[in-house]
Amino acid sequence: MTDLTVLSADSRTDATWWRQAVVYQVYPRSFADSDGDGLGDLPGLASKIPYLAGLGVDAIWLSPFYPSALADGGYDVADYRDVHPQLGTLADFDNLMTVAHGAGIKVIVDIVPNHTSDLHPWFAEALASAPGSAARQRYIFRDGKGPDGSRPPSDWISHFGGSAWTRVPDGQWYCHLFAPEQPDLNWDNREVRDDFLVTLRFWADRGVDGFRVDVAHALAKDLSEPLRSKPTLEDHPSMPTDGTDPLYDRDEVHEIYREWREVFDSYDPPRTAVAEACAPSSRRALYARPTELGQAFNFDLLAADYDAADFRAAIAFCLSQAAASGSSSTWVLSNHDVVRHATRYALPSGTDLDEWLMSDGSLPRADEEAGLRRARAATALMLALPGSSYFYQGEELGLHEVADLPANALQDPIWLRTQNEKKGRDGCRVPLPWHHEGNAFGFSTGHAWLPQPAGFSRAAVAAQEGRSGTTLEFYREALRVRHQLQTAEDLTWVESDDPDVLHFTRPGGWHCLSNFGTTAAPLPDGVVRLTSGQHQAGVLPPETTVWLTEWAPLG
Ligand code: NOJ
Repeated sequence: MTDLTVLSADSRTDATWWRQAVVYQVYPRSFADSDGDGLGDLPGLASKIPYLAGLGVDAIWLSPFYPSALADGGYDVADYRDVHPQLGTLADFDNLMTVAHGAGIKVIVDIVPNHTSDLHPWFAEALASAPGSAARQRYIFRDGKGPDGSRPPSDWISHFGGSAWTRVPDGQWYCHLFAPEQPDLNWDNREVRDDFLVTLRFWADRGVDGFRVDVAHALAKDLSEPLRSKPTLEDHPSMPTDGTDPLYDRDEVHEIYREWREVFDSYDPPRTAVAEACAPSSRRALYARPTELGQAFNFDLLAADYDAADFRAAIAFCLSQAAASGSSSTWVLSNHDVVRHATRYALPSGTDLDEWLMSDGSLPRADEEAGLRRARAATALMLALPGSSYFYQGEELGLHEVADLPANALQDPIWLRTQNEKKGRDGCRVPLPWHHEGNAFGFSTGHAWLPQPAGFSRAAVAAQEGRSGTTLEFYREALRVRHQLQTAEDLTWVESDDPDVLHFTRPGGWHCLSNFGTTAAPLPDGVVRLTSGQHQAGVLPPETTVWLTEWAPLG
């Protein structure tokens, strides 16, 4: 561990490391379990840092590992400045930092400022205090409507289904835009703001390199009376684009991040941040301004069909947004909230994924081989783009969504809150397979918290490592070559006669050609540096991406 420490020194002082980083998202409960309780933990993660270093990632982003009742996979935080006892201790966190930094890997932690857990001491205090008390004003408590106050204070709805209000025994209601176990904080309250500044410093002082900010667009709300109507979720097409929605993407939210930036910039190197801001696309760049969080997630590529025109439009838009904010673009194909991209691309375009999951993944049938081929091609294309790529754990193994988890295993609040009408997100959170056989495929010596399918044996790290052509080796090679070729953040499109082929070039003569079609296209001369599929001289196979240098245009 200590002999690796030296490696990190230079890279950690580069203040712009994040602009073109490859960031690997770790969902800690599902990554590696060191103590056999079936939940992944920080010592387990620390033991796999050599694996991540071998993969070639620049940073890891840890989904929440804080004390939590796990009512929403840890996005219900009971204490922002500690570690969930089943996931380890602060000493384990410090050790993880040492090991990760020693391997040259930066660490980003998830901050969940919109809501706490209902187990947070503030919420316990609010429940024990009278309506109108200071303790209640840290949250959003209101009287109900109707003569006996038995109707919710407004028509606001929860992202997980049902009303965004829950009634407490004394008759008042509190607001939760997610599960009832996730009461929303009142960001008009100075004490709330100050407390988060303390939390940011707490982790920055421990050496974390950056923060991923959960639901960054929801903190500022119009809480003036009477509460305004908002019966839809934030991404409804009619959402205003002028910052005046009652709940989401309000102009005032940016004041909060300007304060946070002062904290980030008081460190050397400055701490980075990335907003999860599901704002109207034209306003996303506001969160990424250098005076605020610095970067924002773009989910446009994730939302695009596997289609050349859709990808090109998403890329062009995201690059224009990055230019508008002075940030670099982010790219994401999978995360802990969505069906894995190898599976999405295995299904006919337009498939309703919620319905598909409810059919246990049987209707329509997923063409897993095609899905993985397309996923690899999309990943190679993404990695050639200027900006930061965010991976989700297991995509480097080509994992598919586990669509047939038994009902009694499901833990996502979406399953409960929709009265079992939607399965939710557990299928992408199944613990990773490390060994091709043995208990829990090497994830744990105990019982994995979600059951792993038999097919995980073939996908396991041990089954792919060192074998040419496997998805794991493809990812490793892609990251190795990307590190060699990555230079300035420019991209120039090379127009192609074939509408299914996207071709762009990066400074230094790096060409990326991606064939989204189902028939082969000609491949110009050049040195093939990477292919997502089979290598064939002069041929760009269907659903394949190739990186070339020393390119010569087709004659
Ligand atoms: C976004 C997170 O990615 C998701 O997992 C979580 O359920 C919600 N925010 C609420 O915190």
